Amino acid sequence: GSPKSLKHQRSIQKRKGRLNSMKDKFGRTINYVRLAVTDRCNLRCQYCMPLEGIKFLPKKEVLSYEEMERLMQIMVGLGVTKVRITGGEPFVRRDLIVFLRKLRQIEGLQKLNITTNATLLKPHLSEVKELFDSVNVSLDSLDPQRFLEITRRDSFAEVMQNIKALLALDIPVKINAVVMQDKNIADILPMVEWTRHTNIDVRFIEEMPFNGVGQQYPKLVWDYKKILAHIQETYPEVESLENPNGATALNYKVKGFKGKFGIIPAFSRTFCGTCNRIRLTAKGKLRTCLYSNNGLDLKGLLRSGKSDLEIANAIKAAVLGKYKNGFEAEKDRGSAVSESMTTIGG
Ligand code: 5AD
Ligand code: SF4
Repeated sequence: GSPKSLKHQRSIQKRKGRLNSMKDKFGRTINYVRLAVTDRCNLRCQYCMPLEGIKFLPKKEVLSYEEMERLMQIMVGLGVTKVRITGGEPFVRRDLIVFLRKLRQIEGLQKLNITTNATLLKPHLSEVKELFDSVNVSLDSLDPQRFLEITRRDSFAEVMQNIKALLALDIPVKINAVVMQDKNIADILPMVEWTRHTNIDVRFIEEMPFNGVGQQYPKLVWDYKKILAHIQETYPEVESLENPNGATALNYKVKGFKGKFGIIPAFSRTFCGTCNRIRLTAKGKLRTCLYSNNGLDLKGLLRSGKSDLEIANAIKAAVLGKYKNGFEAEKDRGSAVSESMTTIGG
């Protein structure tokens, strides 16, 4: 259609979004879903999975694309406007692009993003440009050897090539780097340096205990304050930027640099007060908090023949019961967090 009719459509979508909005009991509006399309991955990042012995889900335990599409349609009907595709690694699932094209057609869905390790992007670059508003790449080192140690796979060259290709296509790129003591501290400054001439947004993430082996840290040493202080020692001219609504990153830039950087207090959990998100795991559980372990069994509801309305009501009730913050959710687990990020879905 003409640009005018597109604009018109968007304004209808906006109004609809306002009409159907989902709130939790603390008044937070939930309009963002992180959708894990698979629990599988072609890398073995140390902070995410053990090297061996991970039990991936049998195929029938994972939601089908049809089931995911139906759930997304229901959630958009409840006021969700933004979906992020996560995993595992989304691109290890067959026919992802076909599914995404259908997802993009859902009326009222305004933003579609993806978090990927970028190893498998090359054959899909033009579709990525067409489908996504931005791409987040999980990359924890700019050094090939450290990349290999962290991910236990030798894919550094492909990842860097694909990032360059994304940038060449003018696709907004964010880099997610998990900061790990004794593993990639030496990468913090080179990653900031990368933003000098490159229009890229590098985000440093506090390490969380979601590594699938239950390894706990007596104390998180590299928390967001220490990461910032470390950067400021070398780059004194760090400026704070606005943090958009619901953002988890504290955003900064070095004065005069082309790109920016952010720090995500994923373990310190300073952002829960403005949380706007829920997660759908690969096996069809709705998680209202990253740190919670129980969740509404949406796969069960789908497969027992419940109607859209019944499912929508169950989702609304679950959202209403969302935990106040990640500490409350963690307390309620009973046991320490030890599962793999791939079962939670990024
Ligand atoms: N701690 C912090 N971040 C993690 N991620 C995966 N596992 C962990 C962890 N244990 C990050 C990845 C990915 C994002 C979705 O979650 O870097 O970019
Ligand atoms: Fe794969 Fe991402 Fe987990 Fe690394 S962090 S193993 S890329 S899912």
